[in-house]
Amino acid sequence: MILRDSLLDPRLADELNLLALREEDRDTVVHWVREVAAHGDDLARVEVLLDRLRARVGDPASREVVFELCDTEHRLGRGVLPLLALVLTAPAVREEHARRDIPSQVSDASLADLGQQVWKDRQVNGSTGLHNQVWLTRVWSGQLLKLGRLQFELTRSHVGMLESPVPVLDIHIDESGPLYPQEVDDSLRQAATFFEDHFPEVGPIDWFTCRSWLLDPGLAWRMPDSNLADFARRFTLWEVEEKDRDALYFGFGMEPAVGAGRPDDLAALPADTSLRRAVIELWRDGEHAMLCSGRIPVISGLI
Ligand SMILES: CC(C)(COP(=O)(O)OP(=O)(O)OC[C@H]1O[C@@H](n2cnc3c(N)ncnc32)[C@H](O)[C@@H]1OP(=O)(O)O)[C@@H](O)C(=O)NCCC(=O)NCCS
Repeated sequence: MILRDSLLDPRLADELNLLALREEDRDTVVHWVREVAAHGDDLARVEVLLDRLRARVGDPASREVVFELCDTEHRLGRGVLPLLALVLTAPAVREEHARRDIPSQVSDASLADLGQQVWKDRQVNGSTGLHNQVWLTRVWSGQLLKLGRLQFELTRSHVGMLESPVPVLDIHIDESGPLYPQEVDDSLRQAATFFEDHFPEVGPIDWFTCRSWLLDPGLAWRMPDSNLADFARRFTLWEVEEKDRDALYFGFGMEPAVGAGRPDDLAALPADTSLRRAVIELWRDGEHAMLCSGRIPVISGLI
């Protein structure tokens, strides 16, 4: 099917639903689809992105650039052409998952990160768009899967103590609600065997890793009874770095200017949740939010 026909195929609406685009974003995306289908230069660029994305599916180690700076802005909105290219290549990712006998529910839950990222863009920028297209190439590689509450990315790391990198399951936490300890237990338990079953060529996987502002001990001790603190306590940390941007981005839905540190006007930040109050207090105390790398032995996920 030529690209224009794929874009105008009525089944594309079902795909948008499957990819969990929120209702408030869907009409805008459908409008973009029609506009792009009517513009030859847009179609030509989408063809390029489709080829690159298809090459990425099943090949997460590829260093080939998929999206370029020119793809971030478009006359119709942010990330329009990457978004459409991602939508059109979702079936190829599903096929890759199916080739590995990954259940369709896991495949759908993993690809639903597209709708989540469009939601995040709306939260940060106030209208429909996409700015996390590079992150989504990691999902589209077929090796970043959502199992229950958590996402797991099959990758390699030296886990802070080994000379050579080994296969690990790097944990990501999407913004899809509370992080109840029993749901975390359940996810870890699933992941402990899932990847070895579906990616047997990788061999044994001994570590979960996570690199996140949620592991910041400065947050955990300010809210010791929180789900966040329970999550953070599971990890042994090996590296921390200042990253105020992540606390602002994930905790307040704001994107600071490149290179900006702590916000100057703390009183202007909403203090409507205990997490936000903990971050504001940390900044008020002159500290920085820390991006922390931690590890958990996979065996503990089996308990
Ligand atoms: C991690 C997370 C799932 C924890 O959610 P939780 O289980 O509800 O949170 P906790 O028990 O730790 O803390 C509860 C408090 O945090 C608030 N909270 C939860 N998520 C929040 C968010 N994204 N922004 C601001 N406040 C949040 C809750 O409203 C609650 O406040 P209250 O005590 O005033 O009612 C949540 O922080 C989240 O969605 N984070 C965004 C995703 C993210 O940062 N991923 C990591 C990327 S590296």
